[in-house]
Amino acid sequence: MADELNDLESQGLGELRGCGDEPGLRLWNTKYFGENGLVKAALGKLKTLAPAERKTYGQDANRVKLSLETAYASALATAKEAALQASLNADPLDVTLPGRPITPGRLHPATKILRDIAAIFADLGFQVYRSREVETDEMNFELLNMPPHHPARDMWDTFFTTVPGQILRTHTSPGQIHLMRQMAPHSIRALLPGMCYRNEAISTRSEIQFLQVEGVVIGEGVTMADLKGTLTAFARRMFGPERQVRIRSSYFPFTEPSIEVDIDWPKEDPNRDRLTKGTGWLEILGAGMLHPTVMRNGGYDPDRVTGFAFGMGPQRMLMLKHAIDDIRLFWQNDLRFLKQF
Ligand code: FA5
Repeated sequence: MADELNDLESQGLGELRGCGDEPGLRLWNTKYFGENGLVKAALGKLKTLAPAERKTYGQDANRVKLSLETAYASALATAKEAALQASLNADPLDVTLPGRPITPGRLHPATKILRDIAAIFADLGFQVYRSREVETDEMNFELLNMPPHHPARDMWDTFFTTVPGQILRTHTSPGQIHLMRQMAPHSIRALLPGMCYRNEAISTRSEIQFLQVEGVVIGEGVTMADLKGTLTAFARRMFGPERQVRIRSSYFPFTEPSIEVDIDWPKEDPNRDRLTKGTGWLEILGAGMLHPTVMRNGGYDPDRVTGFAFGMGPQRMLMLKHAIDDIRLFWQNDLRFLKQF
């Protein structure tokens, strides 16, 4: 009996020494200590023995069991340590090295100027509203006093979708109609920022995709003087007191009278003549008093209230602020350019 147990012990220890790695050791463990394992079988024999033999056999069996268990635990620990060392040698990792610095992200200059514009107008009591980029021909043109075949449509060459009558908006002005219909008959003081699209020749000053910020004010007794005062106050805050602001008369079918506003290009910039076509000025916005037809289309009575609107180009403003010589830089995602802001 004792010989059997001694054989089991030396066989087990011998096989354990032959197990190279952790998976091998786990197989050994199943063979000896599993549900149908050899150690369990040896202990099971106890029941079949005569009572006189049981005590010695039991003690021997437990000693063998303990000896194999201890040897297994120590072999397993050694194998794990060896595996760890091997992986550290194969793929050395110096945990004392300083980590890679995380480069903080930054806001795009266009986002920054949109926030600046909203902040300045917030001080003048304006709230920001959203408006859609895919519009109907009716909203983009007709309700703004440009029926089909109106020659003013030539100012805004359009991108069409495959759905008849649906276009990419050429300006933020259709937002005026949406907002008026939502707010009438109450007074309005609002900004509508967003992307616009025009099928036009790309140049240093014009993109086919660009930002605009529409402003709309409606109320009793709103006059052209309010429009000029608002735009001048805005320009002073945005560009500082030294920069010159020029207000010219202009034409838009949806405003009467209409104006455009220019800012003088930085005098010291060598690109001044090229970017301003020799004039020294760059246009930043169109504006005017809301046309009575547009007011009616929006649900307001032009005999009772008046209003003004403007549509400004934030990218043109950035060009003027920082003497940027090409509007295409904004959407090129060139970090050398973007990191300067
Ligand atoms: C308009 O789009 C009118 N909707 C503005 C308006 C609104 C007038 C409300 C009256 C009342 P205009 O096409 O001039 O007007 O564009 C207005 C401004 O958007 C321009 O001054 C310029 O700053 C900017 N802009 C126009 N086209 C481009 C372009 N292709 N790329 C970059 N900015 C542009």
